[in-house]
Amino acid sequence: MTHPSDASQASAARMYDVMLGGEENFAADREAVKMLVAHFPTVPDACRANRGFLLRSARAMAEAGIDQFLDIGCGLPTPPNLHQVVRGVHPEARVVYVDNDLTVVTHNQSTVDHSGVLTIHGDLRRPQEILDHPRVRATLDFTRPIGVFTVAVWHFIVGNGGDGRDGRDGRDGGDTARDLMARLRDALAPGSYLGLTHACSDTMPEDEASAGLAVYGQTRNPVQLRTMREVGELFEGFELLEPGLVLAADWRPADDDPFPEHAFEVVAGLGRIPPR
Ligand SMILES: C[S@@+](CC[C@H](N)C(=O)[O-])C[C@H]1O[C@@H](n2cnc3c(N)ncnc32)[C@H](O)[C@@H]1O
Repeated sequence: MTHPSDASQASAARMYDVMLGGEENFAADREAVKMLVAHFPTVPDACRANRGFLLRSARAMAEAGIDQFLDIGCGLPTPPNLHQVVRGVHPEARVVYVDNDLTVVTHNQSTVDHSGVLTIHGDLRRPQEILDHPRVRATLDFTRPIGVFTVAVWHFIVGNGGDGRDGRDGRDGGDTARDLMARLRDALAPGSYLGLTHACSDTMPEDEASAGLAVYGQTRNPVQLRTMREVGELFEGFELLEPGLVLAADWRPADDDPFPEHAFEVVAGLGRIPPR
């Protein structure tokens, strides 16, 4: 299932799996997490708080009537998964998971995919390919509101989002995270939602930020932190719903949250394109 070369270099998806207590990871991932936690002991709590936001915001979207979802940078399955939460509200809800890590895609396809729930290989740096993907088009109806998630994935879009495929490498001018998000937004119907989190340079101490950047710099997924203002700009065209852009754990806390941890590294928000 996993290409042997995958095992030798840590990846964001598997490091996150380590921090959430999962088992789909290798020694390189566990080693990278050990280094991270040595400098940055609250990072597993930040990951859990992030996951808690994902599930609470998914339920909020479903309770607001959304029954189709697009989760970009979905990561490895971690129960309860997004489709399980939204199907608790809409049993027929459709969910498309997207990740650019083939290990994630293969694993999700064999464990999670079933009728109306599917995983495709796609890259947030090429939003049009995701939007035009035949399986996405066959599953989601873009004339109706969709719940989009970009949770803990924008910080892996470094520089201008170039991935080298088209000659851009993240250093020259080109698409910024804001441009990429605008392209996704423009494909969505009024009333669509966006759940988003980001590792934020304004909410974490500087030494922790530099340790985090150094560890992730050695993995397949280097990181770029953004300020609160830059994260807020990703919501352009959306109205930011209560309580706004806040620490993940402070976003509508709930008594039944399986991930109640509080940490200060990740900010979260839920936006909606104003309904017509
Ligand atoms: C930290 S995990 C977050 C998983 C899930 N969204 C959550 O918050 O629980 C980040 C995921 O984003 C994926 N990823 C990183 N860069 C990406 C990109 N350019 N396009 C799509 N997925 C990406 C990684 O492979 C990983 O699975």
